[in-house]
Amino acid sequence: MSTLNSGVSTATRATATLARAADLSKVYGQGETRVVALDAVSVDFRQAQFTAIMGPSGSGKSTLMHCMAGLDSISGGSARIGDVELTGLKDKKLTQLRRDKIGFIFQAFNLLPTLTALENITLPMDIAGRKPDRAWLDRVVETVGLSGRLKHRPSQLSGGQQQRVAVARALASRPEII
Ligand SMILES: Nc1ncnc2c1ncn2[C@@H]1O[C@H](COP(=O)(O)OP(=O)(O)O)[C@@H](O)[C@H]1O
Ligand SMILES: [Mg+2]
Repeated sequence: MSTLNSGVSTATRATATLARAADLSKVYGQGETRVVALDAVSVDFRQAQFTAIMGPSGSGKSTLMHCMAGLDSISGGSARIGDVELTGLKDKKLTQLRRDKIGFIFQAFNLLPTLTALENITLPMDIAGRKPDRAWLDRVVETVGLSGRLKHRPSQLSGGQQQRVAVARALASRPEII
C-alpha cells in the first residue's frame, strides 16, 4: 500500500486513538517472490469513528487489517491496540487482546455450519467463558433483523442473513474496535 494508489479516509474528531500503525511495513516472501504489501503506513483509528480503507485489489487493505488486528506478524514499524504494541506479544496475550478488544467481520463470514445463528453469534463469548449481556444481545439481533432466524443454521439463511449473523457476532461482546 502506498499513498499513490490507496487512501485511508477518516473523519477527524477529538477522540481517543484506539489503534495506531506507525511506519508499518509488511513484506511477504523473498527473492523473486518478494512482495512489499505495506510500505511504511501510518494511520490512527479513533473512537466513535468509521475508517474506510480504500484502494485497488492487491494494494494491501486486507494485509493492513490483518496486521492491525494481530492476525498476522509485521515486518517493520509498529502496530498498537490501545497502548499495547502487538509485536512481541505471546500468542496467549495476543489472543486475549483480540478477544477483548476486537469484533471481526470476515469477508467470507466464517460462520460455523453446524451451529445455529444464535450459537454462532455467542460463540466467541462462549469460548471466552463469558455470559452475554442479554439486553444488548436482544438489541443487536433486533437491529440486524435476525429475530426470526436464530434457530436456523447458516445453510438455511440467505447470503445477507449470514452476513448479518457475522455482524451480530462481531457486535455481541461490545468490542472497542470492529
Ligand atoms: N500470504 C501471502 N503471501 C505472499 N503474498 C501475499 C500474501 N498475502 C497477500 N500477499 C500479497 O500482498 C499484496 C496485498 O494483498 P492484500 O492485502 O490481500 O490486498 P487487498 O486486500 O488490498 O486486495 C498482494 O500483492 C498480494 O498478492
Ligand atoms: Mg482484501
